[in-house]
Amino acid sequence: MKKLLIILALNLLFFNAFSQVHIKPEEIKDKMQWFGDAKLGIFIHAGIYSVEGVTESWSFYNKRISFEDYMKQAKGFTLKNYNPKAWADLIEESGAKYVVFTSKHHDGIAMYDTKINNQSIVKKTPAKRDMITPLFDELKNKNIKCGLYYSLLDWSHIDYPVFLNDSNRYEIENDYARWNKFRDFLHSQIVEILHKFNPDLWWFDGDWERSAEEWEAEKIRNIILKYNPNTIINGRLQGWGDYATPEQNIPVIRPKFNWWELCMTINESWGFQHKDLNFKSPYEIITIFVDVISNGGNLLLDFGPREDGSIPEESVHVLKELGAWNKKHEEAIFETVPGFPPGHFYGPSTISKDSTNLYLFLAGNPQNQITIRGLMSEIESISVLGSNNKVNFKILGKIDWSEVPGLVYIDATKENDIDKYMTVYKIKLKSPMKLYRGHGGFYID
Ligand code: GLC
Repeated sequence: MKKLLIILALNLLFFNAFSQVHIKPEEIKDKMQWFGDAKLGIFIHAGIYSVEGVTESWSFYNKRISFEDYMKQAKGFTLKNYNPKAWADLIEESGAKYVVFTSKHHDGIAMYDTKINNQSIVKKTPAKRDMITPLFDELKNKNIKCGLYYSLLDWSHIDYPVFLNDSNRYEIENDYARWNKFRDFLHSQIVEILHKFNPDLWWFDGDWERSAEEWEAEKIRNIILKYNPNTIINGRLQGWGDYATPEQNIPVIRPKFNWWELCMTINESWGFQHKDLNFKSPYEIITIFVDVISNGGNLLLDFGPREDGSIPEESVHVLKELGAWNKKHEEAIFETVPGFPPGHFYGPSTISKDSTNLYLFLAGNPQNQITIRGLMSEIESISVLGSNNKVNFKILGKIDWSEVPGLVYIDATKENDIDKYMTVYKIKLKSPMKLYRGHGGFYID
């Protein structure tokens, strides 16, 4: 019974989450264009939590460390090896087209010189400087879009109701004046960030603690869009965002949203943690990335820099390997759309926007023939991206009086053409892709 109630409650939550979406895709499709084409973004969780390597903000909220000790980390945040130019070079090398940087996490410490309060790395740490401006300058030179993460909730703010997982400062219902004070702070900081950085994308977080009305989410959206109507807002604004943000896990079924983005860590932590050596391999990252794009999403891949501003070598390795693979296969990735719907090919695929070039992604060693089904358009050629060597294919089982297309059997490629992560076949079609989606002929009613 208890289990049933939990399932019902979850269903209700799920339903509510979708029934609350206020933004219509057709109204935002122009401004979402670059985002849909971008495919890869880099998420950066920088903060004082990297000093002791504790979980960003959650460690004091969940009482793994006292609030005082958490805040003391500020003394060790030096940024003495911070090199924004090298960061931007690495991000560009990875193939990413946008960045999302933590302007303020749930701990309330701004990573730039906020004038609204004293809670910033400029005022509280030996680094004494704004981390965002120099990075954004470098990224803009490279035409990489600049987004900012911003936590609506602020567990260290004296007027924010929630403090630790078992203690609140007050309840809003009992003290609206105090809540209004916090909300004024929140809205002023958003305006400050807007004027200072004019981010291409706002990545809100922490909206779950309050309702849209309490945050005045619609007003926040309007403030941002009035300043810059092209700004993109993620889906963590209680129904007032533009796109969905699943976290850490690939959706199993292709999401119905027009735009979505999987945010995922390279190891298991958003911020830098010395002890977390559980890094995903380039192969794992690349196969996940391909799964995401073949289902119409973007990957927002996160790393956490150290307190001195250096990037862990393991993350650098992954970003470089991913970048080399992206470069070799870029026409199959960027500015494409999802390829086959399920049923035509056992694997991920994308297609060019004009529907004439299909890309099949083959994990591991494609040493056998592969098959595609239900392809009505005629194939001009099949080649391997990288070498551009042709691959032979034949059509099996085509019956000339039936509309059902034959099976396409594609030969294995030469060993030299196999990519160490994922090999990509390009199928050039003679006309835009048409698919057969029927049951295959005779059957009994
Ligand atoms: C979660 C966590 C937060 C992290 C974010 C990134 O919402 O609260 O720590 O920054 O995910 O997606």
